[in-house]
Amino acid sequence: MIDATGNPRTVLLLGGTSDIALAIAQMYAPAKPHVVLAARPTSRREAAATQLRDLGCETTEVDFDAKDTDSHAMTLDAAFAVGDIDVTVVAFGVQGDDEQAWQSHAHAVEMAQVNFTGAVSVGVLLGERLRKQGHGKVIALSSVAGERVRRSTFMYGATKAGFDGFYLNLGEALAPEGVKVTVVRPGQVRTKMSEGRGKAPLEQTAEQVAAIAVKAARKGKPLVWAPRAFRPVMSVLRHVPRPLFKKLPI
Ligand SMILES: NC(=O)c1ccc[n+]([C@@H]2O[C@H](COP(=O)([O-])OP(=O)(O)OC[C@H]3O[C@@H](n4cnc5c(N)ncnc54)[C@H](OP(=O)(O)O)[C@@H]3O)[C@@H](O)[C@H]2O)c1
Repeated sequence: MIDATGNPRTVLLLGGTSDIALAIAQMYAPAKPHVVLAARPTSRREAAATQLRDLGCETTEVDFDAKDTDSHAMTLDAAFAVGDIDVTVVAFGVQGDDEQAWQSHAHAVEMAQVNFTGAVSVGVLLGERLRKQGHGKVIALSSVAGERVRRSTFMYGATKAGFDGFYLNLGEALAPEGVKVTVVRPGQVRTKMSEGRGKAPLEQTAEQVAAIAVKAARKGKPLVWAPRAFRPVMSVLRHVPRPLFKKLPI
């Protein structure tokens, strides 16, 4: 259970090697929670577990492949075998190559499977378990790219639009059961995922996004932008007429 000071005893990272997920886990680390790292079995996962153990957290590693939806129930059962899960971070995702993504069938299908189908698959199974538990918080990492999908990143944006709509409404559906979902919409974040990309407006570090996500989850907010300045920016961009929107250099 989350203690009186708002600290979780158990944290599940779905995408246990994500830079943003690890920054969120580090925000909780002073209270030494048990962190379950659900990720593919790689040296990256081992390094992430070592990093959290060095901060005094207990860790459990469970195998998770977003594309293998048949294995997701097993992944979640292994995570919940540790005990009640107080905070779950849904952090796996692929950005892909923007231009290849819509021209290569294999590439497009993989992005949709990981970012959308995989996210829905774990979301439904997580919802089932959290309803039984009667409590829990979920931090779902969406993106401003999904808020108004643009030509330059439309494959990624389309998957994130689906992700965002699903998790926002999963939060509404689960709220009466004592479960809170916080959807986080970052702009570009300096992580493995954005390696090789130029600096973007309002770019954040993983730590900055983590601080915003953890604060919003503590308050039980359903939706937050990272940084917050994206909220007014996106509310304008959402309403820019399409002929003008497509001429914007974004
Ligand atoms: N970085 C950004 O600019 C940015 C902006 C907005 C939103 N976001 C979102 O924030 C989330 C976290 O991103 P990040 O920046 O922390 O990126 P990251 O460090 O590259 O993490 C991505 C994670 O996705 C996992 N993953 C990819 N394919 C997988 C699969 N088939 N099965 C299981 N795991 C898989 C990776 O695992 P492996 O280690 O096994 O590859 C890794 O843990 C993502 O959903 C991303 O879309 C990121």
